[in-house]
Amino acid sequence: MIHKIGVLTSGGDAPGMNAAIRGVTRYAIQKGLTVEGILRGYAGLLSHETRPLDRRDVGEIIHRGGTMLRTARCLEFMEKDVQKEAAQYLRSLDIDALVVIGGDGSMKGAQALSQLGIPTITIPGTIDNDMMGTQYTVGFDTTINTVLSSVNKIRDTAYSHERVAVVEVMGRHAGFIALYAGMAAGAEAVLVPEHPMELSDLCAHLEESHRMKKMSSIVIVAEGAARSTDVVKYIREHTYLEPNLTVLGYVQRGGAPSAYDSIMAGLFAQKAVDSLLAGTYNCVVGLLDSRIVATPYTEAEHLKFSIDENMYQLVQWLGR
Ligand code: ADP
Ligand code: F6P
Repeated sequence: MIHKIGVLTSGGDAPGMNAAIRGVTRYAIQKGLTVEGILRGYAGLLSHETRPLDRRDVGEIIHRGGTMLRTARCLEFMEKDVQKEAAQYLRSLDIDALVVIGGDGSMKGAQALSQLGIPTITIPGTIDNDMMGTQYTVGFDTTINTVLSSVNKIRDTAYSHERVAVVEVMGRHAGFIALYAGMAAGAEAVLVPEHPMELSDLCAHLEESHRMKKMSSIVIVAEGAARSTDVVKYIREHTYLEPNLTVLGYVQRGGAPSAYDSIMAGLFAQKAVDSLLAGTYNCVVGLLDSRIVATPYTEAEHLKFSIDENMYQLVQWLGR
């Protein structure tokens, strides 16, 4: 029987994490549970930084980016002894189950705690949309909209000066942000880690577009696909085109969540709490074929989704 839950955010912050904290807290209280917030992700379990959360503590945060609980990348937490210490601390607080909001790495941490007898459930929260067991992660929609609005501004200069605008976006291991933002922005090309592209092919593509009277181009590069500085240098040295570079950086990780992210955060939060109450834990909540489900970690490992191949091809065709 679960009476008290802990909640933490871990890994890279994502817009909508606050909405998820609010959803978990208020829905759990609605169901008669008490909630303890753990600060700074897994680091807070080691430094014993926690605070009780009531309904009012999570007021005025639904529209804010970042995470009120703060977050961390805690490398020590990879060690078994450290995980045992954290599990012991959770027991000492009478926390019966832990809700982790974060990406794939954070889910691994939750899985490690569950193997030590702490029931956990993970809510997907990362801008990268690259998590096992779900086709959607909270933060992604906001991010692609932020990238789109930035690219639309950059496009004005690219058009006016007849340049190739190279825009670097996040995505160390996955090209979702580059592809979806590229599709929405009408980019000429997207470079993603899943499809290594020869820079000579990229240049041929850009020159062909130019010959077809296209005076400016947008190229979106996921950080894990290539060094964007190398891409710019290569275009400059191997074509007559004039490239310039914009690295969007943390601009794309902050800001108020989109309506979709706030809604998904609330629905994922409800599923997480309901699953714990039903005794279904050691799972990741996710969106699978338009349904919100909780999948055991062990099964989720086999549910890894990649970018849409058709969309990847379509961006290049429509960008000509
Ligand atoms: P994300 O959750 O966004 O993927 P990270 O990969 O940085 O971000 O992971 C966040 C944190 O989760 C790490 O700093 C670490 O504390 C924990 N973590 C990551 N991988 C593992 C693992 N294999 N075992 C235990 N904890 C992990
Ligand atoms: O949140 C995921 C992510 O945005 C990756 O795409 C990126 O490489 C990474 O985080 C960078 O985060 P940090 O600077 O916090 O290590």
